[in-house]
Parts: sequence; structure tokens; C-alpha cells
Amino acid sequence: MGETILKMHGIQKYFPGVHALDNAQLEVRSGEVMALVGENGAGKSTLMKILTGIYSKDGGTIEYFGEEIELHGPKDAQDKGICIVHQELNLMQHLTVADNIFIGREPMKGPFVDQAEQNRMTRELMESLHLTIDPKTVVRTMSVAKQQMVEIAKALSFNNTKLLILDEPSAVLTDTEIDDLFLFIERLKKTGVGIIYISHRMDELKRITDRITVMRDGQYVETLETAKTDIPEVVRLMVGRTIYEEPKTHSLCPPDAPVILEAEHLNSVDVKDVSFYLKKGEILGFSGLVGAGRTEAMRLLCGADPMDSGTIRINGQEVKIHSPQDAVRHGIGYLSEDRKRFGLCLGLSITDNTVLPSLGRLFKGPFVNDGQADEHSEGYIEKIKTKTPSTRARVGSLSGGNQQKVVISKWLLRDCDILIFDEPTRGIDVGAKSEIYKLMTDLAAEGKSIIMISSDMPELLRLSDRIMVMCEGRVTGEVDIADATQEKIMTFATKREVG
Ligand SMILES: Nc1ncnc2c1ncn2[C@@H]1O[C@H](COP(=O)(O)OP(=O)(O)OP(=O)(O)O)[C@@H](O)[C@H]1O
Ligand SMILES: [Mg+2]
Repeated sequence: MGETILKMHGIQKYFPGVHALDNAQLEVRSGEVMALVGENGAGKSTLMKILTGIYSKDGGTIEYFGEEIELHGPKDAQDKGICIVHQELNLMQHLTVADNIFIGREPMKGPFVDQAEQNRMTRELMESLHLTIDPKTVVRTMSVAKQQMVEIAKALSFNNTKLLILDEPSAVLTDTEIDDLFLFIERLKKTGVGIIYISHRMDELKRITDRITVMRDGQYVETLETAKTDIPEVVRLMVGRTIYEEPKTHSLCPPDAPVILEAEHLNSVDVKDVSFYLKKGEILGFSGLVGAGRTEAMRLLCGADPMDSGTIRINGQEVKIHSPQDAVRHGIGYLSEDRKRFGLCLGLSITDNTVLPSLGRLFKGPFVNDGQADEHSEGYIEKIKTKTPSTRARVGSLSGGNQQKVVISKWLLRDCDILIFDEPTRGIDVGAKSEIYKLMTDLAAEGKSIIMISSDMPELLRLSDRIMVMCEGRVTGEVDIADATQEKIMTFATKREVG
């Protein structure tokens, strides 16, 4: 490991009502991967936004290659070789991959952008990163995982990169994509680039990082050498207590529980003859690789996409679901995997977002009962420990994990009988995760029925009573939790149709 290239010391940052960073500290050496960990809202992203010139600091010093520097905006940071892949995707949805990567620095031919050259440069970049992404693809049509890869490629396309920041890059990636990502992190390390790696997936820390800096409540806690640390110790430093999640050994759903939902022979563009049932009080897990059609199948149940054929029965009665309103009327709530696109109004407050689907019940004469609305959202903030200065804070100002908690509150309040959780703990810290697990288990015990899509295998094995496995739009297997193993599920998840 090389010289220390970055020293951030005593960093302070205030937002209205929030002391986001209080004496934050971080050092990075050349050629190392430094993990930055901490609970949701600990200040990781804020510290990185200061380092990339997006926010100005209110105190402290930044030393870069031995010299104290001030950063005057994102362009300045980029010119100094500090590049970031943000937690939220920032691509222009209507532009192509190539346009996104070279925006603002397009190769020109006279007064025009040299498209052919731009595509060639993009292709070369993709090849160097072993990515199969066509430069001419419009970003909107790509999966979240692929878009993330484009963001990373873009960050790496600035040739002078000396410090690369990856803010939860793996949250939307599949296991094979994560393997690819780790491969190029390894390669990049060898060239002497320092890498700051933010993640809530503790299993990754041992695989990829050299040191780990822990933050709590905006403050620096400690820096550990990965090889000399164990993960429970890191978790303890992060959340101030030990957490141990055991897999479920048997179904908690009573064997005689009635079937509440039946889906038969569902078909659409991406869904092929999918049938399953869900019992009252059951947690039904859906496993599969990304692109297996799990989200697409659930979107049919909640009226988000049109169905070509198939039958849905709720409590034995056939129902027609043509719109999300239909689904809500039949008691189906869907917690989207992409909270920014489908789940939240970022410009509105926590309370507004929480009560939005339940407005019908909150009217007092012609007016919404604001007091009651605030009370409800306050209640959920406490119940699932959402970190925020007040119920009136804009959802857009919350940290990523805390935004996800608002999505969950909103559907809890709507009091749906059937809750569909799509990747419920993506980007959520280990402490909050275990709170959400408890919440879901309690909901099932109270008689709510839950469908959970998850790419996190330990999570599926920890929560599900039964697991359906999908591959390429079809159901390829069903496993009772008592017989479930990772190997069994993976076998089904890769069971392609032959011919
Ligand atoms: N633009 C902003 N305006 C107001 N408050 C903000 C803003 N950005 C962040 N905060 C607050 O600063 C604190 C730190 O947030 P930050 O996003 O840095 O957390 P994080 O560690 O990245 O969390 P996560 O793991 O959930 O992404 C939070 O309390 C957050 O609500
Ligand atoms: Mg963050």
C-alpha cells in the first residue's frame, strides 16, 4: 500500500436542523480500498459530497497529496482526479450510453458532435471494463443494474482518476455483476488509485476492502484493518450493539391458514405462465437472478403493467386488476424496488408521503386532518426508527435508507392485507434491517400476507415461510423453508428452458 493521498480532518457540516457531520475524518492511501460504513444517515454520502465539491464544508481540512486544498465545485474535484459514482443514479434517461458518458466533453467534428468517434470511444471503454453494453442504447431502456455499470464506467472514463468514490455501488447489482465490479476494483487498485467504498453489505467488506472507517451520527468512530477485524466488531461499532440474524428453520404460517391470493397462468411480455398462491399470515419469498421476471410478475398483481392472460383470485373471488387503484382497493400494497421512480415524491414532506395512499381516511370535512396525519407519520418514524429532524422534512433530504423507511410506513398505514415488498432492505443498514425483519415477521403474525422479492439470499432464508424461484419469466421451483438451502435455490434460479 502506498502513500496517504487523502486526509480529511475535523469536517463539519450543518443542514437546517441537522448537524450532519461533526468531526468527521477519513484517510485514504494510494492503491487501497477504504470502506466507509455507518448506519443510514450517519453522514457517509454527505462527507463524500464535500470531497467531490458538491457541498461546501462548514469546518475542518482536506489534505490531498500532502497539500491542503479547497474544492470549488464538482468540476474542480474532477480536475483534481476525484471522481464519484453516486448512490442515486444520475444518468439522463432519454440519452444514449455514449451521450451520457461524454456529456460536456464530446468529441467534435467541426461544429457537431462526432457520434461515430463518441461511440467508438465508449465501446473501447466498455471493452476495457469487460462490459457488454452497446454505446447506442438509450439509458431509459436499461435495467437499474446496467445503468449502475454505466455510471461506474463514466467515472472511470476520466483518465486522471486518482481517487474513486463508490457510494453503495453493489446495492443494485447481482452477484455476478458484483464479481465483475470487484475484478475491476482489483485492477484499478494496482494502478495506484485510492478507492472509497460505501456499502451496507457486510459480507463484501472482507472480500474487497483493506481498511474500514466507521462513522456514527456524523462522527468519526474508528479505522480498522480489515484483515485484523471481524464483521460483528464492525457492526458493533456502527450501531452500538451486536446483531445476529438466524435463518428460519420452519414455516411460521399455520398449516390450515386459508389461501388469500391465487394467481393462475399469468402471462405478459416478460411473464410466462406464472402460477402461485399465498396464504393468510404467510411470507412468500421470491428468488431469482435479476431479470428473472419477479418484479414484472408482481407488477401484474398491482395493475402497474397490462396482463395478456391469467386469473387472480382474492379470498376465492376472481378480481380484475387494471390499475394500481384497483389493486389498492383489493388490499394489495406494492413497495417498489425503485423508490425514486415509483415510490416517493421527493419534494414532499415525510408526512405527505406517508399519508398519500391513505388520504381517503384522513379527511375532516373537506380538509385533510393534518394533526392526525402528523401523528401517524410520527408513529412510524418511531416504530421503524426513521432518522429525520421532523415529520415536515422533505423526503429528498433524507439519506437513502431512511427514504426506504418512508416507503414502508406509507404502505403500513394504508393497512393492506397483502403487501408486496420488492427488495425491501436495499441500501438499508444492518441495524434497521433487523428492525424491518421484525416488523415484517410481526405483520405476518398479525395476519397480513406478504410477498417478498429479494436478491439477498440470507434475507430470503431468514424471513420466508416458502420460496418460489423464477428464471427467465417462469416459475422454476418452489421450496418450503424447512428444506431450503442456497444451493437448491440457485439450481432452480438457473434452470433455463432448453430449446
Ligand atoms: N441536502 C440535505 N438537506 C438536509 N439534510 C440533509 C441533506 N443531505 C443529507 N442530510 C441529512 O444529513 C444526514 C446524513 O445523511 P447522509 O445522506 O450523508 O447519510 P448516509 O450515511 O449516506 O446514509 P445512507 O446509508 O442511508 O445512504 C441525514 O440526517 C440526512 O437527513
Ligand atoms: Mg448515503
